[in-house]
Amino acid sequence: MQDIQIRELNNFNEAPFNLLLLADPSRKMVNQYLMNSRIFAAYSAKETVGVYVLTEVGSTTAEIKNIAVDENLQGKGIGKRLLRHATSTATDLNYQKLRIGTSNASISQLHLYQAEGFDIIEIKSNFFVDNYPEPIYENGLQCRHMITLVKYLT
Ligand code: COA
Repeated sequence: MQDIQIRELNNFNEAPFNLLLLADPSRKMVNQYLMNSRIFAAYSAKETVGVYVLTEVGSTTAEIKNIAVDENLQGKGIGKRLLRHATSTATDLNYQKLRIGTSNASISQLHLYQAEGFDIIEIKSNFFVDNYPEPIYENGLQCRHMITLVKYLT
């Protein structure tokens, strides 16, 4: 794996939708939160290999609304790098909490987020059933509930 650089995008038009839609299949939802968010992309030799979206959701809380890594490069530590970058960005911006949401079926994401210090604080029952037009499946399970995790920043 070549060296990875992570930088903030200046312009929403540069947003890598092919990656953003891996994490969130609703372009409508993605468009809604992109407008009020900062977008950070990871590059390897000028190729965009990952992305995350950071959104203020309260005066002291930021949320990672989207995080995704190129399908051919998953499992090589880029997601962990993006999460750590998001943690230090949110800390530098003086937020006290960093939130992330995932589904009941997102087993490896739940593992990764907890391994990186996020704790489950809330389950929104049937969030994906109520808010997405088509059923979503992962690991052979239907994504039904939204699990929210939080990391306290120092
Ligand atoms: N089973 C269990 N844990 C796994 C796993 C698997 N199949 N794949 C990854 N992990 C965990 C491990 O804890 C790993 O830690 P380790 O390096 O100590 O083994 C950790 O994840 C880090 O993995 P990493 O390689 O950094 O993750 P990644 O680069 O694949 O990025 C995602 C993680 C979720 C961003 C990426 O897989 C992705 O883009 N998925 C599709 C989009 C998506 O689901 N986004 C999140 C929406 S909530």
